[in-house]
Amino acid sequence: MEAAADLKLTLLLLFAAILSLVLVPSAQAATTDVKYCDKKADYPVKVSGVVVSPNPVVSGKPATFNISATTGKPISSGKVVIDVSYFGVHVHTENHDLSEEISCPIAAGKFVLSHSQTLPGFTPPGSYTLKMTLEDGNNQLLTCISFKFSISFGSSVSDS
Ligand SMILES: *[C@@H]1O[C@H](CO)[C@@H](O)[C@H](O)[C@H]1NC(C)=O
Repeated sequence: MEAAADLKLTLLLLFAAILSLVLVPSAQAATTDVKYCDKKADYPVKVSGVVVSPNPVVSGKPATFNISATTGKPISSGKVVIDVSYFGVHVHTENHDLSEEISCPIAAGKFVLSHSQTLPGFTPPGSYTLKMTLEDGNNQLLTCISFKFSISFGSSVSDS
């Protein structure tokens, strides 16, 4: 009888341990996996990772996407195009001057592009895909990446 009770307790503890392992990683701000739009392309700018903060993004609250990249040549000016889609449906496009997101010119080597935006309070929670295209001042494609991010419920819609 006692052995059976011990087994029950062991199983319960094991279950709790597994549950905490499953729940903890989702709360951390980890580096997001990035894909190039064209896997075979040899883009002049290489992207090594994206940090989304907060992760998940809260609708109606500012979110920051820090994109770590490397360029072989200095970049004096350019353009950033952001496309957001929700379950494959295009929901949002933004065009920015590169110098709004980072101080130009960018020297050859590593750099971090910090993109901040507030998604509207009515943005439904779920899984989104962000596609970012970077062009130089002569409209030459420097890089094109996409990555997934999640949006959770905001506190309320009325405060946005
Ligand atoms: C994103 O980059 C900006 C500018 O470099 C920095 O101030 C900020 O702390 C970074 N945020 C995260 C979450 O890494």
